[in-house]
Amino acid sequence: MRTDLSSATLTALLLALPFTVRAAPFPDADHAVAKDMHTRMCVECHERRFGGEDGSAIYLRPDRRVTTPSALSQQLTACTTMLNLDLFPEDEHHLAGYLNKLYYKFE
Ligand code: HEC
Repeated sequence: MRTDLSSATLTALLLALPFTVRAAPFPDADHAVAKDMHTRMCVECHERRFGGEDGSAIYLRPDRRVTTPSALSQQLTACTTMLNLDLFPEDEHHLAGYLNKLYYKFE
């Protein structure tokens, strides 16, 4: 059976698209994987320098550097590069989505 998309359906889809994209700056990020990596690789140093029981103070400080999703990706990459972690882009994506969900909450 052939199904044609009516132009009304198509218009509705096209209109919905930007909202879908904006609703999730890091779609499909795996938060479980990220949580594990974050605990192992990131918390200790952030905690030592910025305090907070779980290393969250760095992300929640009033003068934090990250104010957009792309700045989040950039800062995160700055840290992993400095550390020579050599993470896969997918892993950085998971981490960004995880930090966004917990702290930055960009939509
Ligand atoms: C060796 C220490 C160290 C480790 C390990 C580290 N970072 Fe950082 N990170 C820093 C420092 C220092 C800053 C603050 C940079 C500044 O303010 O100029 C920072 C800042 C950040 C920020 C920006 C925070 C803000 O101001 O909004 C993000 C995001 C971040 N790190 C992610 C990560 C992730 C993810 C990892 C683990 C993969 C990680 N970092 C591991 C030292 C570290």
